[in-house]
Amino acid sequence: MVSVALDGPAGAGKSTTAREAAKRLGFLHVDTGALYRAVGLDVLRRGGDPADPGDVLPFLEDMRISLKFTGEGQRIYLRGEDVSEAIRIPEASMAASAVSAIPEVRTFLLELQRELARKNNVIMDGRDIGTVVLPEASVKIFLTAAPEERAMRRYKELLAKGAQADYDTVLEEVQRRDYNDSHRAAAPLHRAEDAWLCDTTGLTLEGVIQAVVDYVLQKSEGAR
Ligand code: DC
Repeated sequence: MVSVALDGPAGAGKSTTAREAAKRLGFLHVDTGALYRAVGLDVLRRGGDPADPGDVLPFLEDMRISLKFTGEGQRIYLRGEDVSEAIRIPEASMAASAVSAIPEVRTFLLELQRELARKNNVIMDGRDIGTVVLPEASVKIFLTAAPEERAMRRYKELLAKGAQADYDTVLEEVQRRDYNDSHRAAAPLHRAEDAWLCDTTGLTLEGVIQAVVDYVLQKSEGAR
């Protein structure tokens, strides 16, 4: 099996790149951020504070999260309910960032991610895939871009969805999440030593997708 670990900060284009590259390679695209978002959403819905382990840990006991893969991509279920759209609200982003700092939450989600990589050729996108989840991944890529560019992409995405958005607020949120994600004690965001650093500032999405596909093919030659 070939495992591609695709890590990087929020808004670097990981999800879109991973989804398209997976399609071209015939691999499964696993969006691991969705798992943390589902945990965050559940905590919010149950009235808990996502930053407080005292609130979050008891909820884990009956937090059944599962993934399904369709021709259209990944769907995520929380106790059987499809929450694939619900987890995209901004409150769920901040809640995901908060719960992801709790070590027990990371452990809770670890086996599900590893199991998928054991059984499928995967492109898994996240923050700690190359460093913690799949340290033996055959291919590791760290995708990044300047914060201003990542904020601009998110801002345009929100406008395209018809949402109200303010660029400065989006930039502030991107920077706050970067800080949280790279300064937490549990599995902080950093590039694995053996990961290819791919800076997408100024590149087109198509250019990035093709570069990732080419890199995967080159690195995994013989393993497929
Ligand atoms: O990629 P995303 O925006 O959907 O991720 C949501 C949050 O989950 C993000 O703030 C960091 C966290 N996350 C993580 O800690 N580890 C991962 N493998 C994926 C996401």
